[in-house]
Amino acid sequence: MQKTGARREEILHLLEELGGVTADNVREVARRTKVSEAEIWGSGTFYTLLKGGPRVRVCNGLSCRIRGSDELVAQLRAQGKEVEEVSCLGQCDRAPAALDENLKVFDKSRGPRGVTPANPGLAVNLAGEPDYTLAALDKARAMAPADIFRLLEESGLQGRGGAGFPAHIKWKGVSTQKETERYVVCNADEAEPATFKDRETMLRRPDKIIEGMAIAAHAVGAGECHFYIRGEFRAEYEAVKAALKRMEARLNFVSWYFHQGHGAYICGEETALLESMEGKRGMPRLKPPFPHEFGFRGKPTLINNVETLACVPWIFHNGGPAFKALGRTEAGSKLYCISGHVNQPGVYELPLGATLDELVAVAGGYEGTPKAFSPGGASSGFLPISKSSTPLDFKNLAKEGSMLGSAGVVVLNDTVDMAKAAQWQLEFFEVESCGQCAPCRIGSRYLHRQTTKYLKTGDPGALKHAGDIGWEMEEGSICGLGMVAAKPLESAMKYWPQEFARR
Ligand SMILES: Cc1cc2nc3c(=O)[nH]c(=O)nc-3n(C[C@H](O)[C@H](O)[C@H](O)COP(=O)(O)O)c2cc1C
Ligand code: SF4
Repeated sequence: MQKTGARREEILHLLEELGGVTADNVREVARRTKVSEAEIWGSGTFYTLLKGGPRVRVCNGLSCRIRGSDELVAQLRAQGKEVEEVSCLGQCDRAPAALDENLKVFDKSRGPRGVTPANPGLAVNLAGEPDYTLAALDKARAMAPADIFRLLEESGLQGRGGAGFPAHIKWKGVSTQKETERYVVCNADEAEPATFKDRETMLRRPDKIIEGMAIAAHAVGAGECHFYIRGEFRAEYEAVKAALKRMEARLNFVSWYFHQGHGAYICGEETALLESMEGKRGMPRLKPPFPHEFGFRGKPTLINNVETLACVPWIFHNGGPAFKALGRTEAGSKLYCISGHVNQPGVYELPLGATLDELVAVAGGYEGTPKAFSPGGASSGFLPISKSSTPLDFKNLAKEGSMLGSAGVVVLNDTVDMAKAAQWQLEFFEVESCGQCAPCRIGSRYLHRQTTKYLKTGDPGALKHAGDIGWEMEEGSICGLGMVAAKPLESAMKYWPQEFARR
């Protein structure tokens, strides 16, 4: 029997170690942590990976749906396999993606096919061999924090996790807090359907991520670095841990910790991620206060995406202006993920502001006759192919009522029914809503149900309240999930009204 004295923060980890949420396991975790069984049930049942029991996981994200995930599910069930359909596996380039009972990629013969970089001049993140010299960190440690923030400002680096927030402002924000117990967190949750760029960075250049985190810790005065990685990414987790091991003798000016997620998309939202790190249900916090003031354990915390941190060493080696010059309409190069109806799905590094046509050209060309694209994950809705020369950046896509988000681009050709595509995306939001705000919980369920009804009956009356519900969700939701969940339906109805007429 294990000793008692485990911390509350360890609840989820202990449940996973014991094999998931069962009555016996909950009792044992309660004994070890002195937290009530009710609270442990409450936290544990939020996460799909803690359900226990072996099963094949099949992704039903947009790219997998258009590549036949429904058929794969039926086929596996016919073979007598236990199958769980999940919202995203971060493997859209292998669509339809599936993981076996041990979370290993089900069929390795499919993809990943397209791999960056096409242009060595843009070799910021994925190219080259790992470099364990920590030369960029040495430079950073010889600099005062104010000079580091100035360098980041000159580089124009914007966060690559979705919002495009300027990195230097966030870093400075943490460093100017009175509280000296500070944290750096790398967000490697990457669960937005269509997105798998962080996966490739972790596999190919984990050295850059670790070095970026160490530089950040020095700049903001943090004593601990935490790496939160989605639970399904086992090989990626090992790659990052191995890179840390190679360098750890020179990185012991901070302490390093790893947290594996337990299967909840919403934990990519930064405050939900912090809750999850604290062993709780991954429910986003009300903001303000923002994590730079009140983050992990209530202390100032810098949270950055994998790609954001991986850009940092290059900036120290080459200078801020050089990084800025890599971009076209905005600063730097960008890792774009592309999947759906293209010949070579994959991750490609291009200047920030490249267009869809350019991206598809390096990804082997369109498959069939292109009709629509979703430029930045499920949250970005759909744009018609007539917008394919819009720069894929934060500013220009926002002008089109869409967003770059995590740069998970999906192309749909003319075989896809846009009402059906909207229904798939709405199902995703309904399943992944954490449920704490009524507009998001009820609205995402309602929109999904009504779109399904429309597809069954062909009566457009089923969708007559969609606009009002979408507005309420945007106005009344705590976090970005609820705010944008109506976008796929709204954009599909706007650009393809004929596909929402009476059938
Ligand atoms: C619903 C939702 C899901 C998110 N998922 C992720 C994610 O998987 N990875 C990520 O880095 N950021 C994600 N974000 C953005 C984070 O909240 C946060 O802005 C980001 O980690 C900050 O890093 P950056 O400044 O380097 O972009 C998500 C946001 C929302 C609203
Ligand atoms: S908007 Fe949705 S996902 Fe976000 S906090 Fe509210 S209920 Fe949870």
